[in-house]
Amino acid sequence: MKIALGCDHGGIVLKESVVKAIKDSGCEYIDCGTMTSESVDYPDFATKVATKIQDGNADKGVLMCGTGIGISIAANKYKGIRCAHVTDVFQAEMSAEHNNANIIAIGGRVSSPEEAYLFVKKFLSTEFAGGRHQSRIDKITDIESSQFK
Ligand code: RB5
Repeated sequence: MKIALGCDHGGIVLKESVVKAIKDSGCEYIDCGTMTSESVDYPDFATKVATKIQDGNADKGVLMCGTGIGISIAANKYKGIRCAHVTDVFQAEMSAEHNNANIIAIGGRVSSPEEAYLFVKKFLSTEFAGGRHQSRIDKITDIESSQFK
């Protein structure tokens, strides 16, 4: 499995741990930046990761900004993207099991690198449960189709 990761200057503090979690999960990664702590705009990195998934060049993604909020809002504007903003391991698990999230977003000013490691490990090791959850995802897809032309 190939994982695209992206962050702004507020999330870069988590990148090393996230890369380690991806590698420890037996996955490959594509680093979409940012590469320094210089101030940048988080929507640009949400775009890079979301389009990697849309184009089939990555299976899942991890986004990081200061809170995890802005970058998740931006990612969720892309068709087919289900980005879950997570602040604990249970949310990381449920985002995969119930919501079939294809990206998680984490805040570098909210969660520690150690916590981020655990969120990513859980996200990548949890299977979508399907069943009743699939019909709910289908309803999300219907909303998306009616909103985005
Ligand atoms: C950047 O200062 C900050 O606004 C950004 O990282 C993020 O927290 C936005 O949601």
